[in-house]
Amino acid sequence: MPAPDFHILKGFVMKKTKEKYTAENCPIKHIAFIMDGNGRWAKKRGMPREYGHTHGAEVFRKIMRRCCELGIKAATFYVFSTENWKRPQKEVDAILGLLDKYLDDCEKEVNDNDVRFIFVGDMSVFSDSIREKIKRIEEVSKNNTYIANMALNYGGRDEIAHAVNTLIADGKQSVTEDDITGALYTKESPPLDLIVRTGGDIRLSNFLLWQAAYAEFYFTDKLWPDLKAKDVDIIVDDFVSRNRRFGGV
Ligand code: FPP
Repeated sequence: MPAPDFHILKGFVMKKTKEKYTAENCPIKHIAFIMDGNGRWAKKRGMPREYGHTHGAEVFRKIMRRCCELGIKAATFYVFSTENWKRPQKEVDAILGLLDKYLDDCEKEVNDNDVRFIFVGDMSVFSDSIREKIKRIEEVSKNNTYIANMALNYGGRDEIAHAVNTLIADGKQSVTEDDITGALYTKESPPLDLIVRTGGDIRLSNFLLWQAAYAEFYFTDKLWPDLKAKDVDIIVDDFVSRNRRFGGV
């Protein structure tokens, strides 16, 4: 009997791994990431903080891709908060520079991953050039299957205030919980299942405050640039072991 073709075998094993979860059976519909630890990762290497953000952006690509492969409908990434403007100008420029470059490069990724980009947050503060690029990438990806919510100049309290103001402008005299949920920046995404925070801190930092009401949490000491695609699989498996009761028994 001829020896089995290694490539066929490898392909079979890889396919099996990839198919553990698919869009049909993936237990997580919406995951969110607080990508913390870039600065410390760089410092450990004797490098400036910006070096950590550059690696962080690469890791973001890998994690986002893995979320799509696993069939997770929506993933929300905390790229830049309403508070991050307090950082040194050099660092702010570096993060926004990475974003600008990513917006130029990401069209191929949009097609390869069947991903729809939605920018969540107050975009009014950004330059015309960045806002144009955001508009364009949202437009070209709008019919894709998976959602990557890019939280930019985002704050959870700001999002709730924005939702309420939108409803008031629409003529609402009083609002329900469903009204607010439907007016959030993340309104296109399923209810949030899980928030992942890297970097060892155990806090929300004004991220997805409304959506977090019944989300699960996963905290890890790993710094964001050390996170691997396979960690997403571990995180999903951990999520499966949770007993979610939503206030019931
Ligand atoms: C928090 O780590 C990280 C940020 C505020 C920026 C996150 C940005 C990226 C991962 C780059 C994403 C870019 C694109 C284009 C998607 P920290 O700097 O607070 O780390 P520290 O806690 O170790 O200081």
